[in-house]
Amino acid sequence: MGEETINRYNREATFTEKYDARIEKFGTKDVMPLWVADMDLPTSPAIQEALSTRIAHPIFGYHHFSDRYFQSIQHWMLRQHKWQIATKEISPINSIVSALNIAVATFSKKGEGVLIQTPIYPPFMAAIKHQHRKILDNTLVLKNGHYEIDFEDFEEKAKEAKLFLFCSPHNPTGRVWKKEELEKMARICKKYDVTIISDEVHADLSYHDNVHIPIAMIKEARDITITLNAPSKTFNVAGIVNAYAITHNESLKRKFLTLFHRYALIQANPLSMAVTIAAYEQSDAWLKALKETFLENLQIINEKKDKISPIKPLFPEATFLLWLDCRELGFDDDTLNKWFITEAKLGLNRGSSFGKAGEGFMRLNFAHPKQEIKEAIALLENAIDFF
Ligand SMILES: Cc1ncc(COP(=O)(O)O)c(C=O)c1O
Repeated sequence: MGEETINRYNREATFTEKYDARIEKFGTKDVMPLWVADMDLPTSPAIQEALSTRIAHPIFGYHHFSDRYFQSIQHWMLRQHKWQIATKEISPINSIVSALNIAVATFSKKGEGVLIQTPIYPPFMAAIKHQHRKILDNTLVLKNGHYEIDFEDFEEKAKEAKLFLFCSPHNPTGRVWKKEELEKMARICKKYDVTIISDEVHADLSYHDNVHIPIAMIKEARDITITLNAPSKTFNVAGIVNAYAITHNESLKRKFLTLFHRYALIQANPLSMAVTIAAYEQSDAWLKALKETFLENLQIINEKKDKISPIKPLFPEATFLLWLDCRELGFDDDTLNKWFITEAKLGLNRGSSFGKAGEGFMRLNFAHPKQEIKEAIALLENAIDFF
């Protein structure tokens, strides 16, 4: 990314949640906002160019999803994840979060159980609570700085579950699930007839030898899984793009799409179309450089880890989100959150919003220019000095 990572962009002028919602979220504008999961880094040059070209054409009427759009997704899945899919298995949807809610409405009834693994991206819990289903929490187990699955508990919960809202890679823990873990979960879900909704929006952002495997590639999961994805996280275009679902099983796909059709929820968007194609056809080199930037940012944090002790960063296997174990500070949840705002002057996501298992943790978004990550760590170091 070269010079671009050094540049700072003034996002305050662009109606950006990360900046504009600071007062609402933290009670002050005086925090460096490292919370909501988008990047303070520019999207790929190919996407910028595709958008400029599309905008130069001054007509923005109704659109349809073109063959090229579907093929760009199909080729991306094969190139990036060795996953062979047919274009007819791809269904455009609006956003992943709306799809999670619709999946809960479609595949379960009031009072029935939905399996999740906390700590978890908050909309997973909201989708279940708002629709009066029962949360079945297969809480992840933290062992030596690494989150693992309690499979016995997973099986117990699966017996009662109608569906499993799966996050892979996992937000906020940054886990990339291993093949054996996926196989065990798939086998259990198949055994108890549990539909898997696999949110794989962070799939393209895995590091080192942590290889993301779409769970639908596992034999037992193939016919019971709906995979949700989008270019939104990978290419920093969350404000523009449509997400999509991939479903091998045609009747499962049809059932899933019923409510989308009933309420006319799917609409092609001219900018989204241009972005998706440019992302998936012309941005491979940019993505490689982006991941190097992320690893450099993690390195900056790693080098300072003794200075920010007792806060322990749990380095992720994927995502640009860093889960900080702050339990040794000994604060209750409100005090911890307040300490980050007033003493460290950092606006992070509070761990407890990811479920009870997140209490004592904070989530830091490191998709920022290197200089900002250095400043953020310096702010943390300074606050620790006064602790
Ligand atoms: C796991 C996960 N799913 C979904 C989303 C948001 O997806 P969308 O903007 O398509 O609703 C996020 C954003 O942070 C996320 O981390």
